[in-house]
Amino acid sequence: MGNIAFHPLEASTLAPQVDLLFYTLLAFSFALGTFLVFLVVRYSVLYRAGSGADRTGPRGRHIVIEVAWTSASALIALGIFIWGASLFLERDNPPAGAIEIQGFGKQWMWKFEHDNGRREINELHVPAGKPVIVKLGSEDVIHSLFIPAFRVKQDAVPGMATSLWFEATKPGTYDLFCAEYCGTEHSRMRGHVTVMTDQDFAAWLAASPSTQTLAEEGAALFRSYGCSGCHGPGGTVRAPRLEGVFGHPVALADRRTVMADEAYIRDSILNPTKDVAAGYDPIMPSFKDLIEEDDLMRLVAYVKSLGTAGKASP
Ligand code: CUA
Repeated sequence: MGNIAFHPLEASTLAPQVDLLFYTLLAFSFALGTFLVFLVVRYSVLYRAGSGADRTGPRGRHIVIEVAWTSASALIALGIFIWGASLFLERDNPPAGAIEIQGFGKQWMWKFEHDNGRREINELHVPAGKPVIVKLGSEDVIHSLFIPAFRVKQDAVPGMATSLWFEATKPGTYDLFCAEYCGTEHSRMRGHVTVMTDQDFAAWLAASPSTQTLAEEGAALFRSYGCSGCHGPGGTVRAPRLEGVFGHPVALADRRTVMADEAYIRDSILNPTKDVAAGYDPIMPSFKDLIEEDDLMRLVAYVKSLGTAGKASP
């Protein structure tokens, strides 16, 4: 797969749609460009110095023609904009029930972690025919996950939760890159996506050497970072219990209400005094710079897993 193809492989549901838009734009630009070159050459010859061509020009304006070409170009431009924007929205909105994989950029490698705790580096295994969402984080600088055959690319930004989704169509091996200059070894921050059939993927996932799921690893961190000392049963400090919180609205001390999603849990760990739950004092210390990005994702996965648990009495 080392050769540069004029027409790169299409291996996701989005790829043919992106290509159709691209080739339409290319054909349109080519047609318009050819027409303009034709006019330049034609008039250069017709009105060359010393030619006997009529140079008087029109005396009036053709309003109808002017309105026609102005509105025609406006409609074409608007049509292309709507087409591109709808693809962009599709690319940005994963379907419900997508398989979640955590991805971390780190100088200079891509680390991936599946729900059951199976981890890989610079390799990503996914099933064909199922939507997959890769939740991205960075442990140091901005990286960008780029899978050309899927026509998707998304930055991984430190301190920010981003994601990328795709549905692979053909089993096979495809290139994966970092597409944001991130330091000396940036060009070596690359790997492969392996698309497998459903059964093969299930077997691959089940062969995980890890005995702990992402949420279980998060539970262990919840204790080792001391979170359970306040948020756990029998906590010494009055802090909100986290069972049944994820995916539900939370009333805040300043009378606002926020949805407890991944971004909120993340924020509450890194910047706890920003959105304080109603009825509690803003006494939690910030864990910014104390928790590595991959541990943060494990903690969020743990709190998320508590979301389906029954709400504990305070
Ligand atoms: Cu990471 Cu370039």
